[in-house]
Amino acid sequence: MNVLIRVICLILFLFSHRYGMAQQPQVNYDESKVPEYTLPDPLHLPDGHPVHSANEWMNDRRPQLVRSFEHEMYGKMPGRQLTPTYTMLEEGNAAFAGLGTRKQVEIAFENQGRQLKMLLLIYLPKGVDRAPVFVGLNFYGNQTITQDPQVILTSSWVPNNDNFGIDANAANEASRGVRVSRWPVADILRAGYGLATMYYGDIDPDRDDFTDGVHPLFYQNGQSRPKDDEWGAIGAWAWGLMRIMDYLQQDPDVDADRVVLMGHSRLGKAALWAGAMDPRYAIVISNDSGCGGAAISRRAFGETVQRINTAFPHWFCTNFKRYNGHEADLPVDQHELIALIAPRPVYIASAEDDQWADPTGEYLAGVNASPVYALFGKMGLQDPRPPAVNQPVHYDIGYHRRTGGHDVKMYDWQQFIAFADRQFRAVRQR
Ligand code: GCU
Repeated sequence: MNVLIRVICLILFLFSHRYGMAQQPQVNYDESKVPEYTLPDPLHLPDGHPVHSANEWMNDRRPQLVRSFEHEMYGKMPGRQLTPTYTMLEEGNAAFAGLGTRKQVEIAFENQGRQLKMLLLIYLPKGVDRAPVFVGLNFYGNQTITQDPQVILTSSWVPNNDNFGIDANAANEASRGVRVSRWPVADILRAGYGLATMYYGDIDPDRDDFTDGVHPLFYQNGQSRPKDDEWGAIGAWAWGLMRIMDYLQQDPDVDADRVVLMGHSRLGKAALWAGAMDPRYAIVISNDSGCGGAAISRRAFGETVQRINTAFPHWFCTNFKRYNGHEADLPVDQHELIALIAPRPVYIASAEDDQWADPTGEYLAGVNASPVYALFGKMGLQDPRPPAVNQPVHYDIGYHRRTGGHDVKMYDWQQFIAFADRQFRAVRQR
């Protein structure tokens, strides 16, 4: 009997390991149980050479960090560019009771017999010549961010959601306006900014399937999924954000020098990665981006590398899975992702009840990126302790932790707009 039980246990053990079901450690929400860690120093080259100047950072250290993030975490994006086709599908002159204008542009690519069609919704404030613009991907289709009946429903695969009336993985009228609370378009327009948004699933549907979305357009002969160091879904969403920037640069109604990239949660991870890779984004904002976004991985507080790679195996490159349970072996940590954005302003927003995303770890990434900002004469986060709840700090790195949970609230947008205003005003005064 005893032997039989042992044999069964052994089989179960082997089976669970084989299929990655090994028990994960408990989620840690206790600050006193954060493991001791040493962060990689952004201001030292791997051979120990110190980085003294902005030039050395830009020419020596930065490219090496980009390679590490590409190779170990987000995966490389394709080197070659495809030529886009822009088609204006719809334009309106009186959106939001006349506050703004609306454009809906299809950005299409074709390669290797595959097509990708992404739908960009743009609102621009009336009476503003060449408007500054916020860019942000959305989770369920452009039609969800507004009640505006003219907004075209996404035709891409959408995750089912009973609350949003989405079934059969297709958007319908019931989902119109279900996410208005996250997108205060009228307030954005009144503040003198435009908004450009796209459904992230237009770029790559958020499922562990590499036969759809943008990836197949770049496969080599016989390839059916990215190689170990090639882009996952976050890399694809970041690629899409760069293609949005390509479009905005040639739209005469937009001031392409004042484009602010904002992303929430998994899309905050994508925004940071895109903002790091694409210097055309003037300001980058991460909202509750957490693990794989702004939060320091080595803290293993809330969501960990192992958890994220298990629940979302398609988000990062395959190489990243080597760090499951081994955060200390990562050659980089997320403060260095923030540092890659320097000297451009970056804002990190956290929420008090969103412990899964590790608000303190998000703050500490800003603190530990600050020495790189200092090389440029920019002011990062000086205080090693996070500010009190609802007490934002707006330097060249900004931060707040608002009350409430994992979401995008009016409070967050008020900070983002104030931060962008201040930064753009400072540029004008120079
Ligand atoms: C999950 C995931 C997070 C992610 C979030 C979101 O909670 O674990 O990493 O940020 O989804 O995108 O809403």
